[in-house]
Amino acid sequence: MQIKQRRSADISEVEVTPKEIYLNRRQFMSGAIASAASFSTSVMAAPSVTTPLSNESLLTTPSATVSEPPSNGLAKSILTAKKTDIGVGQTLTPYRAVTSYNNFYEFGMDKSDPARYADSLKPFPWQVSIEGLCEKPGVYDLEDLIKGIDLEQRIYRLRCVEAWSMVIPWIGFPLAKLIKRCQPLSSAKFVEFKTLVDKEQMPAQASAFSTIDWPYTEGLRLDEAMHPLTLMAVGLYGEMLPNQNGAPWRLVVPWKYGFKSIKSIVSLRFTETMPNTSWNSLAPREYGFYANVNPNVSHPRWSQATERRLPSGLFAVNRIKTEMFNGYGDEVAGLYQGMDLNRYY
Ligand code: MTE
Repeated sequence: MQIKQRRSADISEVEVTPKEIYLNRRQFMSGAIASAASFSTSVMAAPSVTTPLSNESLLTTPSATVSEPPSNGLAKSILTAKKTDIGVGQTLTPYRAVTSYNNFYEFGMDKSDPARYADSLKPFPWQVSIEGLCEKPGVYDLEDLIKGIDLEQRIYRLRCVEAWSMVIPWIGFPLAKLIKRCQPLSSAKFVEFKTLVDKEQMPAQASAFSTIDWPYTEGLRLDEAMHPLTLMAVGLYGEMLPNQNGAPWRLVVPWKYGFKSIKSIVSLRFTETMPNTSWNSLAPREYGFYANVNPNVSHPRWSQATERRLPSGLFAVNRIKTEMFNGYGDEVAGLYQGMDLNRYY
C-alpha cells in the first residue's frame, strides 16, 4: 500500500527547521499582507474538504500568535525539551503552514480564521479540571499539574479527516504520565476531554452559524489514552504552542483523524461509559468515536485512500497514499484486535 515501509515514528532531527530560520521567516512574514482567502460560506456542519493550501497562501498568511506566559516555567522547559529520534526521514510541513492552515472552529470556519483571530485567547494562567473516576480530582493550574514531567520533541504525522496531512515537530509528554498522576479507579474505562467555552476569548462560539454544541468534546478509551504514542503537546517547532494550534495544551493522537486531537483543553474526566463527542454527536455516520485513520473505510462523502501532504499547490498536488492507522499500525493495531473496523470507524 505505502511506497516506503518505515516504522512509524521516524523523522530525522536534522530535518527540523532550525529555530533561527523559522523565526526569521516569521519576522519577515509579520509584515506581510493577510491572506485574501475568502471566507467559507458553508454552515459549520462538519469538517469539509477545502481548497488546497497553495504556496501563494503560504506566503501571505499571518504569522503565528504565541502567547508568552507570565512565568516562563513552561517556556523554559520547552527550550530544554529532549530531542527524541521519534520520526526519521520525512520532510516537515513548514512552520507557516502548520500555524496558518488550521481547524479551530471556536475561531471560525475558514482555515485562515484561527491564525487571524486566535490572539483573543489568553492561555496563561490556565486552569484544568480533573474529574470523574479518579483519586485526584480537583482544579489545577496547568503548570502545577504537569510540573516535573519531562518534555520531549516528537515528530508525528497529522492526518485530517478532510484528507490533508502535515508532519509536525511537537513538544509535549505522554498523556499516560499525567493519567498516572490522576490515579484513575479500576472502573474508569474512558477519558473525556473538553475545550474552553468563553465567547470573548473564542468569538465564533457566539456565531449563529455554529452547529457545534460547545464545548468541543473528545474522548479516548483509557488504553488508547495510556498508549505511549498519545501525546499532550505544549509546543511545536521548539516554541510554545501558538494559540491557533490549541494553546496552552492539546491532545495529539497520531493514528487517529485530526479531529480527535482536541485543543485548548480545560477538563479531563474519567468515565465508565463511552463519552459523547462533538463530531460523533453531530454526524454519527460520518465521524465515529474511534476515528482511526483507515484508507479502506471511505467517509460517506469522499474517499480516504489518499491525502494531500501540505504544502500542496493547486497545480502540483502533493498527493500520497494514506496508510492504515496513519502508518502507526505496528504500535497500535493491537488495541483493536478482533474489532470490526468497518463498524467501529
Ligand atoms: N479542537 C477544538 N477545540 N476545536 C476544533 O475545531 N479541530 C480539530 C482538532 N482539534 C478542532 C480541535 C480538527 S478537525 C483538526 S484536523 C485538528 O484540530 C487540526 O489541528 P491544527 O489546526 O493544529 O492542524
